Amino acid sequence: VSDDDRCGIETILKYVSPERRDALLKYISALIDREGYNYDHTFLGFIDDYIHYAELLQRKVDLRDVVDPFAGQKGFRPKKPPITVYDVGCAAAIQHLVFDPRIHYVGIDCFGPEPEFFRENCTFIKGKFGDIVHTLKVNPDDFGIANMSLAYTCTEDLPIFDRTFRRKFVL
Ligand SMILES: C[S@@+](CC[C@H](N)C(=O)[O-])C[C@H]1O[C@@H](n2cnc3c(N)ncnc32)[C@H](O)[C@@H]1O
Repeated sequence: VSDDDRCGIETILKYVSPERRDALLKYISALIDREGYNYDHTFLGFIDDYIHYAELLQRKVDLRDVVDPFAGQKGFRPKKPPITVYDVGCAAAIQHLVFDPRIHYVGIDCFGPEPEFFRENCTFIKGKFGDIVHTLKVNPDDFGIANMSLAYTCTEDLPIFDRTFRRKFVL
């Protein structure tokens, strides 16, 4: 695989432990063989975009884990809940692997079977975003991602996405 594989197996394998790599490869192989999947092992989704989102979010989760020097003092606010990333239009959701495991990943898609996850702390919701949004409990510090999804294929859900997430990435 070439050095510029930015969306395929070579890219994503680095994010799983050696013990889990065989299982991931089997899953990807089944995915590629699935009817309607028109790509190959060099394209598993726009993984490169997610790597950049994950880099930005890394700082956020690191800062949350810093021990607060004001703990115990008047006005101290207790530790915040973990950050959740809502990935709207997640497709096979292989990109869940690139996020820090402290981030709760929620994949949402109206199409396809439930994705298999290769780390803890992940959830899948099947449905059109506009139809399922009322079931989400979004905190102000959570993030919405609509990567190559709403802005291209379902613009009617874009204003709903915009109202739901204070922090967001749309490409
Ligand atoms: C081109 S894929 C992008 C997959 C992934 N986000 C990526 O960047 O690799 C677009 C996905 O968005 C999903 N999608 C489009 N509109 C949606 C909506 N309103 N609600 C949920 N999923 C949606 C489609 O089913 C499809 O799986």
